[in-house]
Amino acid sequence: MATINDRVSAANLKRIGVLTGGGDCPGLNAVIRAVVKDAINHGIEVMGIEDGFLGLIEDRIKPLGLDDVSNILTMGGTILGSNNKTNPQKYPVGRNEDGSLKYRDLTEVCLTHLNIRKIEALVVIGGDGTMSAAKPIADAGINCIGVPKTIDNDLFGTDITFGFQTAVSVATEALDRVHTTAASHHRVMVVELMGRNAGWITLHAGVASGADVILLPEIEFDLDVICKACLDRSQKGKRFTIIAAAEGAKPKGGAQIVERVDETSPDPIRLGGVGKWLADEIEKRTEIESRYVVLGHTQRGGTPVPGDRVLATQFGHHAMELLKMGKKNRLVVMQGGNLGDVEITAAAGKQRLVPKDHPLIAAARSVYTCFGDR
Ligand code: F6P
Repeated sequence: MATINDRVSAANLKRIGVLTGGGDCPGLNAVIRAVVKDAINHGIEVMGIEDGFLGLIEDRIKPLGLDDVSNILTMGGTILGSNNKTNPQKYPVGRNEDGSLKYRDLTEVCLTHLNIRKIEALVVIGGDGTMSAAKPIADAGINCIGVPKTIDNDLFGTDITFGFQTAVSVATEALDRVHTTAASHHRVMVVELMGRNAGWITLHAGVASGADVILLPEIEFDLDVICKACLDRSQKGKRFTIIAAAEGAKPKGGAQIVERVDETSPDPIRLGGVGKWLADEIEKRTEIESRYVVLGHTQRGGTPVPGDRVLATQFGHHAMELLKMGKKNRLVVMQGGNLGDVEITAAAGKQRLVPKDHPLIAAARSVYTCFGDR
Protein backbone atom coordinates (compact mmCIF):
# COMPACT_ATOMS: atom_id res chain seq x y z
CA MET A 1 0.00 0.00 0.00
CA ALA A 2 1.28 3.50 -0.85
CA THR A 3 2.37 5.57 2.12
CA ILE A 4 1.47 9.24 2.44
CA ASN A 5 5.03 10.19 1.47
CA ASP A 6 4.78 8.06 -1.67
CA ARG A 7 1.62 9.90 -2.53
CA VAL A 8 3.19 13.33 -1.97
CA SER A 9 6.09 12.41 -4.16
CA ALA A 10 3.69 10.99 -6.76
CA ALA A 11 2.12 14.40 -7.10
CA ASN A 12 5.40 16.16 -6.27
CA LEU A 13 3.58 19.27 -5.19
CA LYS A 14 5.37 22.28 -3.79
CA ARG A 15 2.69 24.96 -3.74
CA ILE A 16 -1.10 24.95 -4.01
CA GLY A 17 -3.76 27.65 -3.96
CA VAL A 18 -7.11 27.65 -2.19
CA LEU A 19 -10.19 29.78 -2.87
CA THR A 20 -13.82 29.97 -1.76
CA GLY A 21 -16.39 30.83 -4.45
CA GLY A 22 -20.16 31.27 -4.52
CA GLY A 23 -22.33 32.21 -1.56
CA ASP A 24 -20.66 31.70 1.81
CA CYS A 25 -21.79 29.03 4.24
CA PRO A 26 -20.79 27.82 7.69
CA GLY A 27 -17.88 25.40 7.48
CA LEU A 28 -15.79 27.12 4.78
CA ASN A 29 -13.14 28.08 7.31
CA ALA A 30 -13.04 24.54 8.63
CA VAL A 31 -12.15 23.33 5.11
CA ILE A 32 -9.48 26.03 4.67
CA ARG A 33 -7.99 25.04 8.03
CA ALA A 34 -7.95 21.34 7.12
CA VAL A 35 -6.32 22.05 3.74
CA VAL A 36 -3.67 24.39 5.11
CA LYS A 37 -2.72 22.18 8.07
CA ASP A 38 -2.61 19.01 5.98
CA ALA A 39 -0.57 20.71 3.25
CA ILE A 40 1.96 22.26 5.62
CA ASN A 41 2.23 18.93 7.42
CA HIS A 42 3.38 17.45 4.11
CA GLY A 43 5.74 20.25 3.14
CA ILE A 44 3.37 21.87 0.66
CA GLU A 45 2.95 25.66 0.70
CA VAL A 46 -0.52 27.17 0.48
CA MET A 47 -1.54 30.44 -1.12
CA GLY A 48 -4.96 31.89 -0.24
CA ILE A 49 -6.81 33.56 -3.11
CA GLU A 50 -9.18 36.32 -2.00
CA ASP A 51 -12.84 36.61 -3.04
CA GLY A 52 -12.97 33.49 -5.20
CA PHE A 53 -11.95 33.78 -8.84
CA LEU A 54 -12.07 37.57 -8.59
CA GLY A 55 -8.90 37.48 -6.49
CA LEU A 56 -7.24 35.28 -9.08
CA ILE A 57 -8.12 37.74 -11.85
CA GLU A 58 -6.93 40.68 -9.74
CA ASP A 59 -3.88 38.85 -8.38
CA ARG A 60 -4.96 39.17 -4.75
CA ILE A 61 -3.12 36.13 -3.47
CA LYS A 62 -1.37 35.70 -0.12
CA PRO A 63 0.51 32.94 1.66
CA LEU A 64 -1.44 31.05 4.31
CA GLY A 65 0.41 29.72 7.34
CA LEU A 66 -0.60 27.87 10.46
CA ASP A 67 -1.22 31.17 12.30
CA ASP A 68 -3.72 32.23 9.64
CA VAL A 69 -5.86 29.16 10.24
CA SER A 70 -5.57 29.09 14.00
CA ASN A 71 -8.93 29.53 15.75
CA ILE A 72 -11.04 29.58 12.59
CA LEU A 73 -12.70 26.15 12.92
CA THR A 74 -15.71 27.64 14.67
CA MET A 75 -15.90 30.83 12.60
CA GLY A 76 -18.70 31.33 10.07
CA GLY A 77 -18.03 32.95 6.69
CA THR A 78 -14.64 32.60 5.03
CA ILE A 79 -11.34 34.24 5.96
CA LEU A 80 -10.58 34.42 2.22
CA GLY A 81 -13.76 36.25 1.24
CA SER A 82 -16.07 34.94 -1.45
CA ASN A 83 -17.77 36.07 -4.61
CA ASN A 84 -20.79 34.56 -6.32
CA LYS A 85 -20.50 36.50 -9.56
CA THR A 86 -17.10 35.83 -11.07
CA ASN A 87 -16.56 33.33 -13.83
CA PRO A 88 -13.15 34.11 -15.44
CA GLN A 89 -14.36 32.75 -18.76
CA LYS A 90 -17.29 35.18 -18.81
CA TYR A 91 -16.16 38.28 -16.98
CA PRO A 92 -18.28 41.43 -17.43
CA VAL A 93 -16.16 44.33 -18.72
CA GLY A 94 -18.82 46.91 -19.60
CA ARG A 95 -21.90 47.14 -21.78
CA ASN A 96 -22.61 46.68 -25.46
CA GLU A 97 -24.45 49.40 -27.39
CA ASP A 98 -27.75 47.58 -26.89
CA GLY A 99 -27.25 47.77 -23.11
CA SER A 100 -26.44 44.09 -22.65
CA LEU A 101 -23.34 43.13 -20.66
CA LYS A 102 -20.07 42.78 -22.56
CA TYR A 103 -17.89 39.85 -21.49
CA ARG A 104 -14.21 38.90 -21.84
CA ASP A 105 -12.54 35.55 -21.26
CA LEU A 106 -9.92 36.16 -18.55
CA THR A 107 -8.77 32.55 -18.19
CA GLU A 108 -5.31 33.49 -19.49
CA VAL A 109 -5.02 36.24 -16.85
CA CYS A 110 -5.75 33.67 -14.15
CA LEU A 111 -3.22 31.24 -15.60
CA THR A 112 -0.58 33.98 -15.71
CA HIS A 113 -1.13 34.82 -12.04
CA LEU A 114 -0.99 31.14 -11.09
CA ASN A 115 2.21 30.78 -13.08
CA ILE A 116 3.88 33.86 -11.55
CA ARG A 117 2.98 32.60 -8.05
CA LYS A 118 4.17 29.08 -8.93
CA ILE A 119 0.83 27.62 -7.88
CA GLU A 120 0.66 24.08 -9.25
CA ALA A 121 -2.82 23.03 -8.14
CA LEU A 122 -5.97 24.56 -6.72
CA VAL A 123 -8.45 23.56 -4.03
CA VAL A 124 -11.67 25.17 -5.15
CA ILE A 125 -14.36 25.33 -2.48
CA GLY A 126 -17.77 26.21 -3.92
CA GLY A 127 -20.95 25.11 -5.60
CA ASP A 128 -21.58 23.93 -9.14
CA GLY A 129 -21.03 27.47 -10.53
CA THR A 130 -17.56 27.60 -8.97
CA MET A 131 -16.71 24.14 -10.30
CA SER A 132 -17.80 25.14 -13.82
CA ALA A 133 -15.70 28.30 -13.52
CA ALA A 134 -12.69 26.14 -12.58
CA LYS A 135 -13.05 23.90 -15.65
CA PRO A 136 -11.07 26.04 -18.18
CA ILE A 137 -8.27 26.39 -15.62
CA ALA A 138 -8.29 22.63 -15.08
CA ASP A 139 -8.33 22.08 -18.86
CA ALA A 140 -5.22 24.28 -19.10
CA GLY A 141 -3.33 21.84 -16.87
CA ILE A 142 -3.75 23.22 -13.35
CA ASN A 143 -5.11 20.38 -11.24
CA CYS A 144 -8.32 21.60 -9.59
CA ILE A 145 -9.82 19.65 -6.71
CA GLY A 146 -13.34 20.79 -5.83
CA VAL A 147 -14.88 20.79 -2.38
CA PRO A 148 -18.67 21.17 -2.51
CA LYS A 149 -20.49 23.60 -0.23
CA THR A 150 -23.99 24.98 0.04
CA ILE A 151 -26.59 25.40 2.74
CA ASP A 152 -29.16 24.32 0.15
CA ASN A 153 -27.82 20.72 0.08
CA ASP A 154 -28.84 20.53 -3.57
CA LEU A 155 -25.49 19.64 -5.12
CA PHE A 156 -25.77 16.69 -7.46
CA GLY A 157 -23.46 13.75 -6.71
CA THR A 158 -23.06 14.23 -2.97
CA ASP A 159 -25.55 13.18 -0.30
CA ILE A 160 -24.70 16.12 1.91
CA THR A 161 -22.82 19.42 1.83
CA PHE A 162 -21.47 21.25 4.86
CA GLY A 163 -23.44 24.34 5.86
CA PHE A 164 -26.73 22.50 5.51
CA GLN A 165 -26.89 21.21 9.07
CA THR A 166 -26.19 24.69 10.45
CA ALA A 167 -28.90 26.22 8.26
CA VAL A 168 -31.36 23.57 9.46
CA SER A 169 -30.42 24.31 13.04
CA VAL A 170 -30.98 28.08 12.60
CA ALA A 171 -34.26 27.48 10.79
CA THR A 172 -35.46 25.02 13.42
CA GLU A 173 -34.71 27.44 16.23
CA ALA A 174 -36.63 30.19 14.42
CA LEU A 175 -39.63 27.90 13.88
CA ASP A 176 -39.52 26.86 17.54
CA ARG A 177 -39.46 30.51 18.60
CA VAL A 178 -42.42 31.60 16.49
CA HIS A 179 -44.38 28.67 17.91
CA THR A 180 -44.93 30.33 21.29
CA THR A 181 -45.81 33.74 19.89
CA ALA A 182 -48.18 32.18 17.33
CA ALA A 183 -49.88 30.23 20.10
CA SER A 184 -50.19 33.30 22.35
CA HIS A 185 -51.78 35.42 19.62
CA HIS A 186 -53.73 32.64 17.88
CA ARG A 187 -52.08 33.48 14.61
CA VAL A 188 -50.83 31.81 11.50
CA MET A 189 -47.05 32.32 11.31
CA VAL A 190 -45.29 31.73 8.01
CA VAL A 191 -41.51 31.32 8.14
CA GLU A 192 -39.82 31.70 4.74
CA LEU A 193 -36.62 29.68 4.42
CA MET A 194 -33.77 29.59 1.89
CA GLY A 195 -32.87 26.75 -0.43
CA ARG A 196 -33.48 28.03 -3.99
CA ASN A 197 -35.27 25.26 -5.89
CA ALA A 198 -34.62 22.62 -3.26
CA GLY A 199 -36.71 22.09 -0.14
CA TRP A 200 -34.12 20.27 1.98
CA ILE A 201 -33.73 22.99 4.64
CA THR A 202 -37.48 23.51 4.89
CA LEU A 203 -38.25 19.79 5.03
CA HIS A 204 -35.72 19.05 7.77
CA ALA A 205 -36.39 22.19 9.85
CA GLY A 206 -40.14 21.77 9.36
CA VAL A 207 -40.08 18.18 10.60
CA ALA A 208 -37.66 19.00 13.45
CA SER A 209 -39.89 21.80 14.71
CA GLY A 210 -43.20 20.03 14.10
CA ALA A 211 -44.43 22.68 11.64
CA ASP A 212 -48.10 22.13 10.80
CA VAL A 213 -47.64 22.97 7.14
CA ILE A 214 -44.44 22.43 5.11
CA LEU A 215 -44.25 23.92 1.64
CA LEU A 216 -41.50 22.72 -0.68
CA PRO A 217 -40.58 23.80 -4.21
CA GLU A 218 -40.89 20.15 -5.21
CA ILE A 219 -44.57 19.87 -4.19
CA GLU A 220 -46.82 22.56 -5.67
CA PHE A 221 -49.37 23.79 -3.14
CA ASP A 222 -53.07 24.56 -3.31
CA LEU A 223 -53.95 27.62 -1.22
CA ASP A 224 -57.39 26.19 -0.42
CA VAL A 225 -55.74 23.12 1.11
CA ILE A 226 -53.49 25.30 3.29
CA CYS A 227 -56.41 27.50 4.42
CA LYS A 228 -58.47 24.42 5.25
CA ALA A 229 -55.58 23.07 7.34
CA CYS A 230 -55.47 26.35 9.32
CA LEU A 231 -59.26 26.42 9.81
CA ASP A 232 -59.41 22.73 10.77
CA ARG A 233 -56.82 23.36 13.44
CA SER A 234 -58.84 26.29 14.82
CA GLN A 235 -61.96 24.13 14.95
CA LYS A 236 -60.07 21.47 16.88
CA GLY A 237 -59.03 24.08 19.46
CA LYS A 238 -55.50 24.58 18.09
CA ARG A 239 -55.84 28.26 17.40
CA PHE A 240 -52.52 28.77 15.66
CA THR A 241 -50.68 27.30 12.69
CA ILE A 242 -46.95 27.23 11.90
CA ILE A 243 -46.05 27.16 8.22
CA ALA A 244 -42.48 26.44 7.06
CA ALA A 245 -42.32 27.74 3.49
CA ALA A 246 -39.34 27.31 1.18
CA GLU A 247 -38.51 30.46 -0.77
CA GLY A 248 -38.99 28.40 -3.94
CA ALA A 249 -42.47 27.08 -3.02
CA LYS A 250 -45.12 27.80 -5.62
CA PRO A 251 -48.85 27.28 -6.14
CA LYS A 252 -50.18 24.60 -8.49
CA GLY A 253 -49.69 25.83 -12.04
CA GLY A 254 -48.17 29.08 -10.71
CA ALA A 255 -44.67 30.49 -10.63
CA GLN A 256 -42.01 31.06 -7.96
CA ILE A 257 -41.81 34.62 -6.59
CA VAL A 258 -38.63 36.33 -7.75
CA GLU A 259 -37.28 38.98 -5.40
CA ARG A 260 -34.57 40.29 -7.74
CA VAL A 261 -32.66 39.49 -10.88
CA ASP A 262 -28.92 40.06 -10.63
CA GLU A 263 -27.77 40.12 -14.26
CA THR A 264 -24.10 40.15 -13.27
CA SER A 265 -24.46 36.79 -11.53
CA PRO A 266 -24.13 33.48 -13.43
CA ASP A 267 -27.19 32.39 -11.44
CA PRO A 268 -29.23 35.63 -11.69
CA ILE A 269 -32.54 34.70 -10.01
CA ARG A 270 -32.97 35.50 -6.31
CA LEU A 271 -36.16 34.05 -4.88
CA GLY A 272 -38.16 35.65 -2.08
CA GLY A 273 -41.58 36.95 -1.15
CA VAL A 274 -43.65 33.80 -0.91
CA GLY A 275 -43.89 34.15 2.91
CA LYS A 276 -45.57 37.55 2.73
CA TRP A 277 -47.81 36.46 -0.13
CA LEU A 278 -48.96 33.40 1.81
CA ALA A 279 -49.59 35.30 5.04
CA ASP A 280 -51.66 37.95 3.19
CA GLU A 281 -53.70 35.40 1.26
CA ILE A 282 -54.33 33.15 4.27
CA GLU A 283 -55.48 36.11 6.40
CA LYS A 284 -57.79 37.33 3.62
CA ARG A 285 -59.34 33.93 3.08
CA THR A 286 -59.56 32.56 6.64
CA GLU A 287 -59.80 35.79 8.66
CA ILE A 288 -57.16 34.34 10.97
CA GLU A 289 -54.53 36.96 11.75
CA SER A 290 -51.33 36.00 9.94
CA ARG A 291 -47.72 37.13 10.06
CA TYR A 292 -44.56 36.16 8.22
CA VAL A 293 -40.83 36.05 8.94
CA VAL A 294 -38.10 35.84 6.31
CA LEU A 295 -35.01 34.20 7.82
CA GLY A 296 -32.79 35.01 4.87
CA HIS A 297 -29.06 35.15 5.40
CA THR A 298 -29.22 34.34 9.12
CA GLN A 299 -29.28 30.75 7.83
CA ARG A 300 -25.86 31.25 6.24
CA GLY A 301 -24.16 33.09 9.06
CA GLY A 302 -22.62 32.29 12.39
CA THR A 303 -20.69 29.38 13.78
CA PRO A 304 -21.10 26.00 12.08
CA VAL A 305 -22.79 23.25 14.10
CA PRO A 306 -20.50 20.32 15.07
CA GLY A 307 -21.75 18.13 12.19
CA ASP A 308 -20.73 20.76 9.64
CA ARG A 309 -17.31 21.24 11.25
CA VAL A 310 -16.73 17.50 11.09
CA LEU A 311 -17.89 17.20 7.47
CA ALA A 312 -15.89 20.23 6.37
CA THR A 313 -12.75 18.84 8.01
CA GLN A 314 -13.29 15.48 6.29
CA PHE A 315 -13.84 17.19 2.93
CA GLY A 316 -10.70 19.34 3.32
CA HIS A 317 -8.61 16.33 4.27
CA HIS A 318 -9.98 14.27 1.38
CA ALA A 319 -9.21 17.08 -1.08
CA MET A 320 -5.59 16.96 0.08
CA GLU A 321 -5.51 13.17 -0.20
CA LEU A 322 -6.68 13.44 -3.82
CA LEU A 323 -4.01 16.05 -4.55
CA LYS A 324 -1.29 13.96 -2.94
CA MET A 325 -2.40 10.90 -4.88
CA GLY A 326 -2.08 12.92 -8.06
CA LYS A 327 -5.76 12.53 -8.93
CA LYS A 328 -6.81 15.15 -11.44
CA ASN A 329 -9.80 17.49 -11.48
CA ARG A 330 -12.04 15.71 -9.01
CA LEU A 331 -14.88 16.86 -6.77
CA VAL A 332 -14.97 15.52 -3.21
CA VAL A 333 -18.33 13.91 -2.40
CA MET A 334 -20.03 11.95 0.36
CA GLN A 335 -22.01 9.00 -0.93
CA GLY A 336 -23.74 6.47 1.30
CA GLY A 337 -21.67 7.63 4.27
CA ASN A 338 -18.36 7.23 2.40
CA LEU A 339 -16.03 9.92 1.13
CA GLY A 340 -15.40 9.68 -2.59
CA ASP A 341 -14.82 11.79 -5.64
CA VAL A 342 -16.37 12.42 -9.04
CA GLU A 343 -15.30 14.46 -12.06
CA ILE A 344 -15.14 18.14 -11.04
CA THR A 345 -18.02 19.29 -13.24
CA ALA A 346 -20.20 16.21 -12.63
CA ALA A 347 -22.64 18.41 -10.71
CA ALA A 348 -22.76 21.22 -13.28
CA GLY A 349 -26.23 22.24 -14.37
CA LYS A 350 -27.90 19.59 -12.22
CA GLN A 351 -29.77 19.90 -8.95
CA ARG A 352 -30.44 17.36 -6.24
CA LEU A 353 -34.04 18.03 -5.33
CA VAL A 354 -36.25 16.42 -2.68
CA PRO A 355 -37.98 13.40 -4.23
CA LYS A 356 -41.75 13.52 -3.71
CA ASP A 357 -41.59 10.03 -2.21
CA HIS A 358 -38.78 10.87 0.22
CA PRO A 359 -39.20 8.86 3.47
CA LEU A 360 -39.10 12.05 5.54
CA ILE A 361 -42.15 13.38 3.68
CA ALA A 362 -43.97 10.11 4.40
CA ALA A 363 -42.96 10.35 8.08
CA ALA A 364 -44.17 13.95 8.27
CA ARG A 365 -47.47 13.11 6.61
CA SER A 366 -47.95 10.31 9.16
CA VAL A 367 -47.89 12.90 11.96
CA TYR A 368 -50.52 14.98 10.09
CA THR A 369 -48.17 17.50 8.53
CA CYS A 370 -49.81 19.16 5.55
CA PHE A 371 -47.67 19.68 2.42
CA GLY A 372 -50.29 21.90 0.83
CA ASP A 373 -51.17 19.39 -1.86
CA ARG A 374 -53.95 17.32 -0.23
O1 F6P B 1 -27.41 29.07 -2.44
C1 F6P B 1 -27.40 29.61 -1.16
C2 F6P B 1 -28.42 30.72 -1.04
O2 F6P B 1 -28.34 31.22 0.28
C3 F6P B 1 -29.83 30.33 -1.39
O3 F6P B 1 -30.47 29.57 -0.41
C4 F6P B 1 -30.44 31.68 -1.63
O4 F6P B 1 -31.54 31.59 -2.49
C5 F6P B 1 -29.31 32.45 -2.28
O5 F6P B 1 -28.11 31.78 -1.93
C6 F6P B 1 -29.21 33.89 -1.91
O6 F6P B 1 -28.19 34.48 -2.64
P1 F6P B 1 -27.55 35.90 -2.30
O7 F6P B 1 -26.61 35.71 -1.15
O8 F6P B 1 -26.85 36.29 -3.56
O9 F6P B 1 -28.69 36.81 -1.93
